[in-house]
Amino acid sequence: MSAEVAISLSGVTKRYAGAATVAVEPLDLDVERGHVVVLIGPSGCGKTTTLRMINRLIEPTAGTITIDGTDIRDRPVTELRRGIGYVIQQVGLFPHRTIAQNIATVPTLLGWDKRKVRDRVDELADLVGLDPELLRRYPSELSGGQQQRVGVARALAADPPVLLMDEPFGAVDPIVRARLQAELLALQARVHKTIVLVTHDIDEAIALGDRVAVLNVGGVLEQYAAPDDLLAAPVNDFVGQFLGHERSIKRLSLARVANLALDGGLVADVEAGIDAARAVLAKGHGAWLGLIEGGRFAGWVPVDEVEAAGSIAELEPEPAAAVVRADSTLREALEVILTSRSSTAVVVDEHGTFGGTVTLEAIREGLTR
Ligand SMILES: Nc1ncnc2c1ncn2[C@@H]1O[C@H](COP(=O)(O)OP(=O)(O)OP(=O)(O)O)[C@@H](O)[C@H]1O
Ligand SMILES: [Mg+2]
Repeated sequence: MSAEVAISLSGVTKRYAGAATVAVEPLDLDVERGHVVVLIGPSGCGKTTTLRMINRLIEPTAGTITIDGTDIRDRPVTELRRGIGYVIQQVGLFPHRTIAQNIATVPTLLGWDKRKVRDRVDELADLVGLDPELLRRYPSELSGGQQQRVGVARALAADPPVLLMDEPFGAVDPIVRARLQAELLALQARVHKTIVLVTHDIDEAIALGDRVAVLNVGGVLEQYAAPDDLLAAPVNDFVGQFLGHERSIKRLSLARVANLALDGGLVADVEAGIDAARAVLAKGHGAWLGLIEGGRFAGWVPVDEVEAAGSIAELEPEPAAAVVRADSTLREALEVILTSRSSTAVVVDEHGTFGGTVTLEAIREGLTR
């Protein structure tokens, strides 16, 4: 599938007047339409500078930035910014304006009529999960997480195709942060923006990014890859150290059960009879046999009971507690396997139809390449 490039940076360089060092060395970066690209790197490496060059709050010293193939210098700056929502570092709401007025900033500037602005504010509050009660309050009367939602709503107000987000969830605790991340992903699944997002947090980068750009001091691009590629094969020590320990554990959060080559495992259909069930046991080793009845997973039976039984009907399967879906992450599958007596997760679909089993070995193989 060939993807369309929405934003393209080519040789983009920034040297601040009077600064001894270059903030951003010539940087090449393509952002595909509808993707979330995350810029990550140590403090002062030029992330904010790079972001602000895209909406021309900062002019590059050299190089070219295009959006949809047009050099951003060839468009009036107001028109350019209308197409780019910007969530600034530290939220930056206007303290003396209500939440509704904050969200309405751009539509008001664009001269929309009052009714249309009001409708849009209500719609956005709903979209980002803000209680309408809050719209009349002032920013200081909101929690950190609520303020961050307002920041996102304000950036989305005029429905720009591009969003620039500078540490949008930097000021909240890890629990709220995780919730806001999940909300952003759900929102993105509906609005399909092209998003460039800056963060310090590698887990956030992995969770949100379709691709992640790891920057070093001076805006040097060390690696630009999909999160799983980054975790599987960091190009150098800098990237490896940045990704931190437990890279395989992190990869478990990215891969899904559907990505595994599922096999049936130690399971038998009750229709096939007791001899067929024993034949299944002879092929593998485990302490439990799974029984399938009418396409559903009926439960687990201890192997010695299968050996001793005169017929399948005598067996009393114990329902499986460790159940996952095809779209469960391998991390979720691992969690249920570790708590399962049979050391096996059972995959079912939304109708309860059996789809296979997942073992530790299958997960380990899934991470090998
Ligand atoms: N207006 C300015 N004048 C001179 N130097 C600047 C200016 N703004 C930023 N810099 C310098 O440019 C470099 C990059 O800054 P930038 O704000 O882009 O970093 P950052 O990666 O966003 O950092 P952080 O993660 O701390 O937000 C830093 O060394 C910074 O001191
Ligand atoms: Mg910054």
